[in-house]
Amino acid sequence: MLKISKNKIMIAPSILSGDFANMEKAVKNIEEWGGDLVHCDVMDGAYVPNLTFGMPMIASLKKKTKLPLDVHLMINKPERYIGEFIGAGADIITFHPDASENPKATLEKIRESGVLAGVVFNPNIPWKPYSELFKLCDLVLVMSVYAGRGGQSFIEDSLITVREIADYLSKNNIDIPIEIDGGINPQTAQKAKEAGASILVAGNAVFNAENPANAISALKK
Ligand code: DX5
Ligand code: ZN
Repeated sequence: MLKISKNKIMIAPSILSGDFANMEKAVKNIEEWGGDLVHCDVMDGAYVPNLTFGMPMIASLKKKTKLPLDVHLMINKPERYIGEFIGAGADIITFHPDASENPKATLEKIRESGVLAGVVFNPNIPWKPYSELFKLCDLVLVMSVYAGRGGQSFIEDSLITVREIADYLSKNNIDIPIEIDGGINPQTAQKAKEAGASILVAGNAVFNAENPANAISALKK
């Protein structure tokens, strides 16, 4: 089972910014560049307007990399597909609780098979009504852009959410990391880490960097 901790900064480059005709190269690149996790953005054209890929992509990537697959589900009723994403080899599965009919059961189902589970909050979704779920989570993901596409600018208010959730977790003795996703670059990464995030997703800042390996080390610093 994958180990993650709030005491270790991890970088999760998103293959959404890779070449969809050569995803094998995208994951091999992430390994070479020093990424810790492969962030896989699954979009259904319903919860978010965009469409990307599903379980077959995860199953194929699993054969091509030793890095853990961090699967971010931007889909309605994620509970319908959890079994298949686990079967495909996901190491982490996060989903938007507002898209689920039963987030608690969904988290439990993910964790039953030893896969790490977390809930994700879009900037307009209040986290407090879902805070009871945190004790069933291995991580919490805060969106710093509206889920749906790469290359958007960082929403500064998401730092407030990271701070509030970090505070809640610490007050309730829930020792899990916070992941942040969207518009991460060396400057916003710094602020996100100060606010309490330790797993940083980055699409454009890595894949479009002149030197992606340096970009990853800059995000880690
Ligand atoms: C947005 C996705 C992100 C996206 C991040 O819906 O969840 O993971 O790939 O891309 P950047 O880092 O370019 O904002
Ligand atoms: Zn994502």
